[in-house]
Amino acid sequence: MLTAATPVLVYHLLSLLLLLVLVLQHQLQPPIHHPLNQVIVGGEDAPPGSWPWQVSLQRFGGHVCGGSLVNREWVISAAHCFSSTSTSGWQISLGRQNLQGNNPNEVSRTVARIILHPNYDSITNNNDIALLKLSSPVTFTDYIRPVCLAAGGSVFNNGTDSWVTGWGAVKEGGESALSLPFPETLQEVEVPVLGNRQCNCLNGVGTVTDNMICAGVLAGGKDSCQGDSGGPMVSKQGSVWVQSGIVSFGFGCARPNLPGVYSRVSRYQSWINSFISSDKPGFVQFTSSGPDADSSYTCPGLPPPVITTTTGSSTTPPATTTDSPSTESSAKCKYPDYHVT
Ligand SMILES: *[C@@H]1O[C@H](CO)[C@@H](O)[C@H](O)[C@H]1NC(C)=O
Repeated sequence: MLTAATPVLVYHLLSLLLLLVLVLQHQLQPPIHHPLNQVIVGGEDAPPGSWPWQVSLQRFGGHVCGGSLVNREWVISAAHCFSSTSTSGWQISLGRQNLQGNNPNEVSRTVARIILHPNYDSITNNNDIALLKLSSPVTFTDYIRPVCLAAGGSVFNNGTDSWVTGWGAVKEGGESALSLPFPETLQEVEVPVLGNRQCNCLNGVGTVTDNMICAGVLAGGKDSCQGDSGGPMVSKQGSVWVQSGIVSFGFGCARPNLPGVYSRVSRYQSWINSFISSDKPGFVQFTSSGPDADSSYTCPGLPPPVITTTTGSSTTPPATTTDSPSTESSAKCKYPDYHVT
């Protein structure tokens, strides 16, 4: 998480807002207690092989960020995980369940190339996306498989059920963020998408761009946190898991009314494809049924809701058949679901 990168003024305003919210919250309900063994903040241990695209990005042997495998040799992550495009010291660990102890299904690769989005802005976190090329392709197993990516024009209505996974902190707290207990098992947490309009109102109008997507429980207590950065947020469409977001930033972790902010994967289909010439990742159009409650949400400072006439079917053009290359490649990320429940 990028709490440190928050502009000071915005931070102070938010702190005041947060204080107010906390005071009100306290009067309404008892404080939420998080058991220390539940990490990613409010999550639980992920069964082995349930999120086979999850990778751990490590530098000089230590976990730094998460990422997701999109084909045999490319991983996507967040730009803020990198201070440069130097690949020195970086390793990508795949098929991993625990950060410590036994990992029978783990395979690792060094990094051949780090590509940061050219318009990544470290102040606003806009375009917080990176592409990493493995030193050599991996063989898929039950524990190592690519995820499908949300294609351009995908729609994630407010409330869309999503999962975030990672080895990040249990609890916010800068340098002293509480890490996972031994053996540091991958954590998963279920969070609903929160529409961009409402997310802007809660986080501060202007903080959430069209290149971002938010998720979180308004009551707080469930979120991604430091160390989860770069990792995937996914939603299931039919039998297919589609990555909608990349863990990017948040004001603290799991605080009430401060949903986490993720890079919106569907905005980067052509950028991603421009670097991957063969064996393109599988892009899947994610759809939501019915109108999005967020489209009418408003608050001071936010442009008024766009009034859409209900005569036309939709403002978004339907997926055209000119998309056939991506439709074809999407088969590559459609595997039987191994998620044990
Ligand atoms: C969005 O969904 C959340 C529940 O996940 C709900 O609390 C909130 O009111 C919804 N927003 C709108 C604008 O309906």
